[in-house]
Amino acid sequence: MSKSKSKSKSKNLHSRDSFASQFGLVMAAVGSAVGLGNIWRFSYILGVNGGGAFLLVYVLCVLLVGVPILISELTIGRRSGLGAVGAFRKLAPGKLWVLVGAIGVVASTVIMAYYPVVAGWSLGYVFESIFNWGAITADSAAAFTAFSAGWKSAAFAAIALLLTATVLIGGVSSGIERWNKILMPLLGAILIVLMLRSVTLPGASDGIRFLFYPDFSKLGIAGFLDALGHSFYSLSLGMGIMITYASYMKKNANLVSATVSIITMDTLIALLAGLAIFPAVFALGFDPGQGAGLAFVTLPGAFAKMPLGQFFSALFFLLLFIAALTSMMSLMQVPLTFMEDEMKLSKKKGLLLISAIVAALGTPAALSFGPLAHFKIMGLDYFSFLDKMANDFLLPITGLLGALFVTFCFSTAASKKEFLIGSKNPNPLLARIYPFTIKFVAPIAIVLILLNATGIFGR
Ligand code: PHE
Repeated sequence: MSKSKSKSKSKNLHSRDSFASQFGLVMAAVGSAVGLGNIWRFSYILGVNGGGAFLLVYVLCVLLVGVPILISELTIGRRSGLGAVGAFRKLAPGKLWVLVGAIGVVASTVIMAYYPVVAGWSLGYVFESIFNWGAITADSAAAFTAFSAGWKSAAFAAIALLLTATVLIGGVSSGIERWNKILMPLLGAILIVLMLRSVTLPGASDGIRFLFYPDFSKLGIAGFLDALGHSFYSLSLGMGIMITYASYMKKNANLVSATVSIITMDTLIALLAGLAIFPAVFALGFDPGQGAGLAFVTLPGAFAKMPLGQFFSALFFLLLFIAALTSMMSLMQVPLTFMEDEMKLSKKKGLLLISAIVAALGTPAALSFGPLAHFKIMGLDYFSFLDKMANDFLLPITGLLGALFVTFCFSTAASKKEFLIGSKNPNPLLARIYPFTIKFVAPIAIVLILLNATGIFGR
């Protein structure tokens, strides 16, 4: 390598952006973790799997599987100071482990191809609530079918993608950190308003009971595996996000307190969202078991029946959009960091390239419920195919290989040492259980998640 080239390379590394504050990095990581999964999926699976009983299992899964993987990703990222691919290459030069990072970059790009579609529906429904209220509530199922099949779906997805790219162009501290510091407290405030509205409706207690009554008879093996899989997805693990974010952390940032804040807030927001949704759904006499249709079909109908429903509906979809937007920032930063670190592209060029790739991969996803409805891959529409590939296979595989990487290459001792830098408590509980959980519990649990995805445990 020539002298001038190595000089510009070291300059590049020195000028690498970083999160300015602990609060900012926690908001960014929580912004990534809190997404559509927290808002409707968690409360739904909580309800059908026996409420309080499931909650207990979920918290255990977070502690025994989510936390060790989260710690491994944070320590790999901060120790190397590089994004997903660069991190593995630096910590294991010349080895195949670099492929783990590459799968993470692919996974985040694949998710980024369809996530803006749902973000776009959410943003679109803010406007539909304001300007088209009569139409979306008269027959909410038909209205949503028409909305997701029409041109608006693709247009709003494009706006969501554009907004994400606009934030990222500002960089980590003045883009991602600044916006998450504004948007996450706003999300919390909206959620509390919606929750108070919901739990004060007459008849709300049935919904609260559905969420929290610990019915162990409803908790089977499928419930256990749901909890495992969801803990993984909800914390945004297995796609290089936490590695990438941690690579922008200062060396003295406190990873222990960041980990505690991320898991506490992610779980708390999921519970608050459950309290915002289910008491209202029950009080107004709707079916809670709608799954994916719950947000866009059941809720507009429910809002229509409550006083000031139009206002609360717009507020709810704004909440959903904020949750999706802050997750998209983290998703898109993964391939962007790859392009900046590894391909040495400028931020602008990198963003243009990744936006073009995502738009090319994502346009068929935006058309999946309309013009391309009959186009199937392995029996699934294109949108669901991307979703299944990423969540059922790519994420768990990256998570599993990441755990094995810590055990066999990086070493649990080095990872634990990195975890404790900046911590006030020299030997916190999380660090004490980390070596055992990352070596044994997490890999076995992830293999079970993968097997479950193939359907061998049935439903
Ligand atoms: N963690 C997000 C949620 O709970 C989902 C997500 C997955 C976000 C992958 C970004 C990337 O909804």
